[in-house]
Amino acid sequence: MVLKIGHRGATGYEPENTLLSFKKAIELNVDMIELDVHVCKTGEVVVIHDDKVDRTTDGKGYVAKKTFQKIRTLDAGKGQKIPILQEVLDMVDRKAKINIELKGKGTAKPVFGIIEKYVKEKRWSYDDFLISSFNRHELQKFYQLNPKVRLGILIARPTTRFARFAKKINAYSVNVSIDLINKDFINGVHKKGLKGFVWTVNDFKDMERMKSLEVDGIFSDFPDRL
Ligand code: G3P
Ligand code: CA
Repeated sequence: MVLKIGHRGATGYEPENTLLSFKKAIELNVDMIELDVHVCKTGEVVVIHDDKVDRTTDGKGYVAKKTFQKIRTLDAGKGQKIPILQEVLDMVDRKAKINIELKGKGTAKPVFGIIEKYVKEKRWSYDDFLISSFNRHELQKFYQLNPKVRLGILIARPTTRFARFAKKINAYSVNVSIDLINKDFINGVHKKGLKGFVWTVNDFKDMERMKSLEVDGIFSDFPDRL
């Protein structure tokens, strides 16, 4: 079975990384929701893709330099606010698994703290989560904090040099750009005992091609097309 993963929720239909987008993804029966996180000035884990608020909100400037109070004044589209990670988990309420992409520096530790709380106090399980990042330092940090949570190595440049690092952090998956994937690559991933997930696939023909390559999961802005 190929996992149906909603990219930043259901970005093809609703403003990315908002509660509206995550709600839509659930309505479209995704297996997993992907989202991006940064830490703001006052320490909250906020769900936003870029390190600046400019592209996705009516504000300007770096997330890391803004207090949560300031961040909450911004419109992230259709009147939506930038959510904190806990709000997304409360809304999803285990109706889908969650792929948290550690975008910003210093995200591993606070995200670890939130997951611990949800597993210990709110009946979530470690297997409900996949932590991914392009930033190997954050992935390694997360592994040191909790080796039980699944980790995904993100790959956007041509490389086959992930095996050693995958072993070091006992990675669960390699999450690769559609521009880089081919049969040899996915075979190599599987031979190493890893899952191969591909992003971001929105075109029907590409979806068929990815399925024929036997990928394990597909990230899409239009998850219903899967
Ligand atoms: O996790 C897959 C994908 O989301 C990585 O790229 O830029 O959409 O965060 P980006
Ligand atoms: Ca992402």
